[in-house]
Amino acid sequence: MKMTTAAHGGNYGELAKQHGLTKEIVLDFSANINPLGVPASLKTKIAENLDKLTEYPEPDYLALRARIASFHQLEISNVIPGNGATELIFGIAKVTQAQKVLILAPTFAEYERAFCGAEVIYAELSKENHFAAFETVFEIIKREADLEAVCLCNPNNPTGQLISQKEMIQIAKLCEERNIYLIIDEAFIDFLEASEHVSMVHYLAEFSHLVIIRAFTKFFAIPGLRLGYLLTKNQMIQEALLQIREPWSINTFADIAGQCLLDDEKYIEQTYRWLSIERAYLYDGLKKFPELTVYKPSVNYIFFHLEEKCDLRTELLLKKIFIRSCANYRGLSERYYRVAVKNRSDNQQLLQALEVIFSGS
Ligand SMILES: Cc1ncc(COP(=O)(O)O)c(C=O)c1O
Repeated sequence: MKMTTAAHGGNYGELAKQHGLTKEIVLDFSANINPLGVPASLKTKIAENLDKLTEYPEPDYLALRARIASFHQLEISNVIPGNGATELIFGIAKVTQAQKVLILAPTFAEYERAFCGAEVIYAELSKENHFAAFETVFEIIKREADLEAVCLCNPNNPTGQLISQKEMIQIAKLCEERNIYLIIDEAFIDFLEASEHVSMVHYLAEFSHLVIIRAFTKFFAIPGLRLGYLLTKNQMIQEALLQIREPWSINTFADIAGQCLLDDEKYIEQTYRWLSIERAYLYDGLKKFPELTVYKPSVNYIFFHLEEKCDLRTELLLKKIFIRSCANYRGLSERYYRVAVKNRSDNQQLLQALEVIFSGS
């Protein structure tokens, strides 16, 4: 069958079925979604607004854009909302029409699909260099003529490695000098408690070629609702994106979600509390296995290399646990895996299952 979408972590239903398991009984560590689930404040808001489904959403999403703009201390015109971050990744590829693009390897697969038809230069990240991206990216931008866009994922998926703000400013300066669009996908950055020290949002005014993509999806656990946004001070990009977008691509509930979630301080605080405890617990637990090389996580997922030959994903699936094999990421082999940080009992189950597998019992 012809594949029409990229393979992603969350699509585990088919594999579970092959092993005679139903999706519901499998513990899913492959999708990096906040385990606190849909915020209660959003459930209430949606319930209160069910009758709004009889109306079309507001076509310009001005209230939504205003809330996001004030959150980031930007202007409404700087915010373009989208049906998930994915719509904006494809949108920016379309409006820049970049013919030569730098993309990390490994990274999230949709950039390459969005820029299909363009020449892609891969910034190949290596195990030896702990998958750090800055130097490789910087060298390629300096070296390659005719580069039209640089597309970075920060923190990178699946490695979790960060390009620091200081490094990103150097990249942004170089891109600005050379008229290269710098597109930074910050879909996971909200999981960093002090994200303002990494994010480039406060540098938008300095760099007219800078474009930032963010998502409500991961942090607020709403992949099914679809809501993301793009930030830029570049007027040409703003106008072109508004021009090409299909009307009403953000549904009424996503519009409502974007206006209320940023105010849910209780959920935001609970998320940081859960993450700081459980990430340390899972990271320390994984590091104890000599069979694994575990990379220090920055957000809500952990990337590791398996030092021995074993189909760990299948072994774990037989124990009703599903993890993300990174074999289909460019530049990675079947020895690489990524797991989401979940709640204590789930994390414990994963560590116990690994203990059983590695001890051979
Ligand atoms: C790095 C990254 N960016 C964007 C997305 C897509 O986000 P959304 O569901 O909001 O389209 C994903 C989804 O896995 C992702 O990993």
